[in-house]
Amino acid sequence: MVQSLLEKIVQNKNHHAKWLNSLSFLENCGARKISKSEHRSDVDIMVLKHAAEEHRHAFYLKKMISRVDQNTCLTYRDEELLGLYGTKHYLHKLDIFTSKYLSKKLNLSGNDLKYMAYLLVTYAIEVRADELYPVYQKVLKKAKSKVSVYTIIKEEEGHLEEMIVSLNKRLVGWEKHAEIIQEYEHELFQVWIGAIQEEIESV
Ligand SMILES: [Fe+2]
Ligand SMILES: [Fe+2]
Repeated sequence: MVQSLLEKIVQNKNHHAKWLNSLSFLENCGARKISKSEHRSDVDIMVLKHAAEEHRHAFYLKKMISRVDQNTCLTYRDEELLGLYGTKHYLHKLDIFTSKYLSKKLNLSGNDLKYMAYLLVTYAIEVRADELYPVYQKVLKKAKSKVSVYTIIKEEEGHLEEMIVSLNKRLVGWEKHAEIIQEYEHELFQVWIGAIQEEIESV
């Protein structure tokens, strides 16, 4: 389903530019959330690297738009995004759900809650990124597009590995909590993709 949707998106300049812009928006939103969840002093190189790379992804995807269409999607205004509601609220909703879950189930609060939410939200997002970007790359290659997300794929793989290492260190049996968060993320993703599908078919 995702592959055929992406094939349709890539065929249409306007949709493709908006898709890249929506991914850029999400990457930027992720980068800002990482920085916001940072501890005042306990910041290690992994967190810095992660924030820097997500910011770079946002910038890189924005730059790719010019390979599809010049002078379009210059900002993140509503009319320049696909699946507007899902794009705007996806990360925030996942964050709220995860924080509530962790405070209820594990009784976490303060910095512990912030950091654990960062790890588990990021884990769910990276699993999604590791599925979505390779499918997108495959579609781009098939369509002989000038756009490539190959360098992003490599970095997202690294992020997922780093999250697994950190979760293993900090939370015994983290997998069962991650599963609950992933189920919710799956719902958000389906709604988002469904909305994009409807949007591009209505044009
Ligand atoms: Fe990213
Ligand atoms: Fe990432």
